[in-house]
Amino acid sequence: MEKIECDIPGKIALIEDLPAPSPILERLISILPDDDNASADLDEVISIDPGVSAQVLRVANSAYFGFSGRISTISKAILLLGPREVWSIAVGVAFKQQFSGIFTSPAFDLEKFWRHSFFTGIIEGFMAKEMNVSEVKGDEAMIMGLLHDLGHLILASHFSEEYEQIETHRREHGLTLIEAERDKGLLHTEVGEVLCKCWKLPKAIQAAVSEHHYHEISTDEDPSIHGVLTGISNLVAKSLEDDGELSLDSEPLSQALMGYEWARPLVEKVQEGEESIRQHVDEIMRLIHGG
Ligand SMILES: [Fe+2]
Ligand SMILES: [Fe+2]
Repeated sequence: MEKIECDIPGKIALIEDLPAPSPILERLISILPDDDNASADLDEVISIDPGVSAQVLRVANSAYFGFSGRISTISKAILLLGPREVWSIAVGVAFKQQFSGIFTSPAFDLEKFWRHSFFTGIIEGFMAKEMNVSEVKGDEAMIMGLLHDLGHLILASHFSEEYEQIETHRREHGLTLIEAERDKGLLHTEVGEVLCKCWKLPKAIQAAVSEHHYHEISTDEDPSIHGVLTGISNLVAKSLEDDGELSLDSEPLSQALMGYEWARPLVEKVQEGEESIRQHVDEIMRLIHGG
């Protein structure tokens, strides 16, 4: 198998237009929603950006939160929804805005990418809340799911030639994308990890990005709890977004759950709330797209 010769860290360092996090995304990521000053900081950072503010208000006023039309300012959104919820909505909006208008390989379906990212983020946030352990916070988990395939976006936009070679190999041999990437020696998990480091994202997010295919790519070390939760959320999202039946016994989900039995009741909870999660993602996508 011919591997793609590509020094990703070297090449990334040479890309002049490598996306730096937008100022608002950078500031949002640095805010810890549990801090005493979080509400004031969030209000200040979001309110300064009219585009992000408007979209956060649209989501805050959506049917899902039940405040239809009553939230007119970011400070009111923070008061009614709480800083954690507003923080994760704003990061989602700012992340999508950062890459709007990006040129990607024609083989890459950008719409599908966003839908999958939001599905994974919302499912992961939901599972983390059910999990209720101190190492994983619901809002941070939402961000982990949202950003987990960042490497795909970078491959499809900044390495489009290599991305097309992988895609052709995948099609010709009937492989999954991760199998094709592995054959070619260029993994989106590694590309994403490099960008996370450039962006100085928190360790939990780096782990989510680099380890979420832990059940398909063997490494010397066990995945972290963040990698496992993101990997399982990724598979659950794939099943839900295709309107498929979420079955815990089907591959590859059953393989991902092997050794991580603590995650099984979380997936069962998603099964129970399946319909409302689907509606929530559809609504968020519609609101953030501005439709
Ligand atoms: Fe992935
Ligand atoms: Fe994914």
